[in-house]
Amino acid sequence: MNRRSFLRASACASVGVITGSRAAFAADSEIVITAREDGPEINPNLYGHFIEHLGGVIYDGIWVGRDSKIENIDGIRKEFVDDMKRIAAPNIRWPGGCFADGYHWRDGIGDATKRPRTYNYWQASMPPGYDHTETNQVGIHEFMHLCRLTGAEPYLAANMASGSPREFHDWVMYCNAPAGTVSLAGERAANGDPDPFGVRFWGVGNESWGCGGDMTAQEYSTLYRRFVTQFPAYPPKPFLVAVGPRGHSKDLDIGWTNGFFESMQEGHRSRVDGLSVHYYTDFRNTAEKVTTFDASGWYDVIREGARIETVIEQHWAAMGKYDPSRHTRLVVDEWGVWYPKGEEISPAYLLSQPLTLRDALHTAVTLDIFNRHSEKLAMANVAQTINCLHSLFLAQGDRFARTPVFYVFDMYRNHMGARLAQMQIHCEELRVPSRSGGSATMPGLSGSASIRDKELTVTITNPSLDSPVTAQIRFTNRNLTEGQGSLLTNSEMTAGNSLDHPDIVRSVAFPVSVAGKGARISIPPRAVVSLQLRIA
Ligand code: AHR
Repeated sequence: MNRRSFLRASACASVGVITGSRAAFAADSEIVITAREDGPEINPNLYGHFIEHLGGVIYDGIWVGRDSKIENIDGIRKEFVDDMKRIAAPNIRWPGGCFADGYHWRDGIGDATKRPRTYNYWQASMPPGYDHTETNQVGIHEFMHLCRLTGAEPYLAANMASGSPREFHDWVMYCNAPAGTVSLAGERAANGDPDPFGVRFWGVGNESWGCGGDMTAQEYSTLYRRFVTQFPAYPPKPFLVAVGPRGHSKDLDIGWTNGFFESMQEGHRSRVDGLSVHYYTDFRNTAEKVTTFDASGWYDVIREGARIETVIEQHWAAMGKYDPSRHTRLVVDEWGVWYPKGEEISPAYLLSQPLTLRDALHTAVTLDIFNRHSEKLAMANVAQTINCLHSLFLAQGDRFARTPVFYVFDMYRNHMGARLAQMQIHCEELRVPSRSGGSATMPGLSGSASIRDKELTVTITNPSLDSPVTAQIRFTNRNLTEGQGSLLTNSEMTAGNSLDHPDIVRSVAFPVSVAGKGARISIPPRAVVSLQLRIA
């Protein structure tokens, strides 16, 4: 084996040999971690969620109805609530997505039996014979109830395409005006919630370059200013998120970011707290399948997912030209793998995908990138949490399953709110097969580390389909006293959980041996590990 050691922050590289479709043998590795109590905080909001009135996400996925035989809390599926609590879901974005730019919030308040039946943007994508009429049984009160039950903070997306600044401002008042002030606060109270919802995160439109109005960056910036200038100033201070680029475009859509900020510069004073960026690992126009694939498909998806790091870096660099004081942060409010149609868990559950171990590794690599770039990011939202693209859960009727992606969120939860630690991985790069012909290279391991009090969390992904990696972890600060870990892997790269077989892929305990400042682990192929190391 041709071995060459590289030093890169949290992703390692070297050269290997390819035999047929087999990945190269990764070599043993060294991981050096240095932690500082005042390192940047990993914002818990990077582990956020997104749910839309789309296919089976809201109805059936989350909302089963108050009279349902399925265990529920005021109509909300209880297993969903329990698991969102387990992973400490920090926020939920709602009601879309593309749906948001056709949604009128008043349709979803008041007596549920009298709410109108309205058109849903996704109707046009439904298979013949299936209906997507919106029943409005889930509106702002039900959504806020879900947030309270799970402990997640709401993140609302306003309708810019078919709505108006007035409709937006009324929604803000309805949500945030203190009791006894404006009439809208009284209406909220009459509908069951006297206390303000205190919504802080407001998305001003969604994908305004596409389903949210098909605008240019300049047109959007004009409209953005109209929407935010008279934003009702009730507490809390809002965090306003402007629509940003389609990050999965070939050119990363840097033109949108430049165009938006250039036209915001021309003497305008509207604040932009967050710039949304969407990054789908976009395999829609390929022959890739969700559940049946070979080694090329395995590596291509994980490598394409890791391109999100370039998207973050390049848009961040572009933003710096206009915002040298770095007020505006990136908000990756849609991310995940998007496969071609055809493997939905049910025909009416548009965009639903039965995910596999491959998507779990993609998740781990992505979350490690978010951790490492936490200073640039204010939030990220997986698209979408249940019965959709990159989901943590599948649900239909009384059946409920956690996908492999759920276990990664669970294994990474100790990073949330901890301080990012420096991590250097010395190991070999993998040479891997690719569908585009020939081979490609990718880091042999990737990961991130964080510290909270006396506990170090280290997460590492070994994408190799063939080779285990022995890693010697060296902590430069102090001695380690004990360690434990969890592992997600399977002997089959295509393994996943389904409603019929919900427990094929799940995390298990993983042994760690600790001595002095070091710990030694052996990471199996196609695996994610999470370690908790106690510091003396
Ligand atoms: O997540 C599915 C869709 O993807 C969202 O509605 C839209 O914003 C994006 O194009």
